[in-house]
Amino acid sequence: MIRIEHLTKTFGDHQDQVHALSDVNLVIEKGDIFGIIGLSGAGKSTLVRCINRLEEPTSGEVYIEDVAMTRLNESELREKRKEIGMIFQHFNLLMNSTVEENIAFPLKLSKYPKDKIQKRVDELLEVVGLTEKRKSYPATLSGGQKQRVGIARALANDPKIILSDEATSALDPITTEAILQLLKEINRQYGITVVVITHEMDVIKKICNKVAVMENGAPVEVGSVLDVFSNPQSQTAKNFLEGELFHISEKTRTEGKSASQSASLLKISFRGDITDEPIIANIMKNYQVEVSILGGNIEEIQAVNLGYLVVKIQGDQQELEQVYQYLSSKSLRWEVL
Ligand SMILES: Nc1ncnc2c1ncn2[C@@H]1O[C@H](COP(=O)(O)OP(=O)(O)O)[C@@H](O)[C@H]1O
Ligand SMILES: [Mg+2]
Repeated sequence: MIRIEHLTKTFGDHQDQVHALSDVNLVIEKGDIFGIIGLSGAGKSTLVRCINRLEEPTSGEVYIEDVAMTRLNESELREKRKEIGMIFQHFNLLMNSTVEENIAFPLKLSKYPKDKIQKRVDELLEVVGLTEKRKSYPATLSGGQKQRVGIARALANDPKIILSDEATSALDPITTEAILQLLKEINRQYGITVVVITHEMDVIKKICNKVAVMENGAPVEVGSVLDVFSNPQSQTAKNFLEGELFHISEKTRTEGKSASQSASLLKISFRGDITDEPIIANIMKNYQVEVSILGGNIEEIQAVNLGYLVVKIQGDQQELEQVYQYLSSKSLRWEVL
């Protein structure tokens, strides 16, 4: 378990201080794939770098399995860091070393028994699917292959935690998918806790079970991915979801704003089994209104369907009120756009 308490990080001196983190409190359970999402500059990288003290916190504490990280001395920290692997957007590989040398590097640093290094490198090459490329240099690899080297290197010392800072941000969508699946597999297979930093909701959706949404140096919303996706509270979470997964076109919005007195534009969000119920058909059957569907989407998140529909409903005010009541009686959420 990673427990972050009252963590702050301030860069710079008196004149131009940047408060990168302000009073961050967060618990990441063992075995989580924990997503941290936020806009650029929100403090995500600083936060993960404070976990392994690549960045020294200004105040507050990070506990890993109840060990207070800031209280460790140099050699204790070096030892503890073996439990924490890290992968980066730009891979950070040694360009003049081969794939296998790159993977052996952290083993040498950690004084892994010399005669066992080759065997460990072989295992790691196998895990990330790069056995054929062992003698290649990074420059000859694709982005996805480079990140696989990064992952093998992060796994070398058998970590309990992997910190991933925008690891797929430089990759195309298909390669991103493959790398995300590899991270998920590593989490499942070895029970490694994975902290995933990203600015893309899609990454969160694909592999995370929990998510923290960061704004101005602190989480503004934390919860299961299912809860946050089906009922976002913060404006940042809403923006991310509408921008990427539940997109409502500008045309639809304009139509919503110009909808007349006798018509309203509704966004109906549903989760799980409710999709089996013919809500729209029931509305049309039971009330004197006309319904047109303007947009919609269904996403499967952790085996649960989340979806929304944007509909225009026309009818007199009284009938509309009844439709609202009907919707409210169902376990779904709706709002007038
Ligand atoms: N080494 C540094 N020196 C000064 N300011 C920094 C440093 N690292 C990050 N910052 C500032 O801290 C804030 C948070 O940055 P960062 O953690 O990189 O955000 P994110 O990863 O969410 O984009 C930004 O305003 C950034 O400019
Ligand atoms: Mg960053």
